[in-house]
Amino acid sequence: MSEGNYLVTGAYGFIGAWVVKQLLKRGARVIALDQSSNPQRLRQIMSDEEIAQAQFAGGDITDGEFVHGLIEGNGITHIVHLAGLQVPTCRANPRLGAMVNIIGTINIFEAARRSGGRVKRVAYASSAAVFGAAEEGHAVTEREAGSMNTHYGAFKRCNEDNARVYHLDNGIDSAGLRPLTVYGVGRDTGMTSDPTKAMKAAVAGRPFHIRFGGKTDFLYIADCAEAFIRASSVDLPGAHVFNLHGETVHMRSVVDEIERKIPKAKGSITFVDTPISMPSILDDSAIQAALGGVPRTPVADGVAETVDRFALLQAEGRLDLSDLDQ
Ligand SMILES: NC(=O)c1ccc[n+]([C@@H]2O[C@H](COP(=O)([O-])OP(=O)(O)OC[C@H]3O[C@@H](n4cnc5c(N)ncnc54)[C@H](O)[C@@H]3O)[C@@H](O)[C@H]2O)c1
Repeated sequence: MSEGNYLVTGAYGFIGAWVVKQLLKRGARVIALDQSSNPQRLRQIMSDEEIAQAQFAGGDITDGEFVHGLIEGNGITHIVHLAGLQVPTCRANPRLGAMVNIIGTINIFEAARRSGGRVKRVAYASSAAVFGAAEEGHAVTEREAGSMNTHYGAFKRCNEDNARVYHLDNGIDSAGLRPLTVYGVGRDTGMTSDPTKAMKAAVAGRPFHIRFGGKTDFLYIADCAEAFIRASSVDLPGAHVFNLHGETVHMRSVVDEIERKIPKAKGSITFVDTPISMPSILDDSAIQAALGGVPRTPVADGVAETVDRFALLQAEGRLDLSDLDQ
């Protein structure tokens, strides 16, 4: 890990919480920004002592002067930018989606520009939603033009283009990462959150219906967080966009793994066998070549770790089930 002061935006979110956890484990100084004041996702994966090692800053990413002040005031050198609104919110309110997902990202790059070279690089969350549906079984590369079918995907593509221009005009190095279906403890919202909710429901002894199926690219959250940390800390000049890949399996296999871990859940987890309109496999050879050895936890292991953690939270009386009805 290079020396430096890390800003993580969206730090109370699913991916943000894991990035904070894994950065702290490496001894990094972490400033954690979120609009939310609810650290419940951090509490699901970290002790209070661990959480206390990060410095929290409440605020709105759409406020450019606030973002600039935070980055200057803390001498930020590396940024992991994850704050954003997901597909359903962007669909329901495209204007708000554009404010947060596009203007919020512009604010990060503007603050990096104004730092006069102190901010070394920006790693930001793009998404596989920049692609539309692809032929089943075809591993999509970064070079293939996407025909996205959501405002969310269009906003993410716009961010990738703006990142490229910030490199051309201002020399800011960046990497936009495109995950697909990320799963693990803390995934409680968004279009592809149902597989994780099914794992939680099985632990709680409740039935659950997953609202999509087919094959998709399942990425374990610890691997996703690791990829963001590498992308923010490894010296890699340019404005890059990288696909992330975990393991592509059919939803049936995920349900099988849940049932293998929790035999009493057999038959209680169902799914609609309709795939989401995105590629089922992302080719990640570019990030593997550029950053080296980004981990790929098999779905069986990721499901097992997730179920074990949910079971521990349940044993401690801390398993929040409020997301299962959303
Ligand atoms: N989870 C996935 O499968 C997935 C897949 C592809 C891309 N992504 C992208 O990765 C990023 C993180 O995803 P996640 O699953 O952690 O999402 P999440 O919804 O769990 O977390 C997003 C966080 O951003 C914060 N936020 C929202 N608006 C804000 C604002 N105006 N100012 C400050 N903070 C704000 C929220 O409070 C939340 O804590 C997002 O940009 C998302 O689009 C996620």
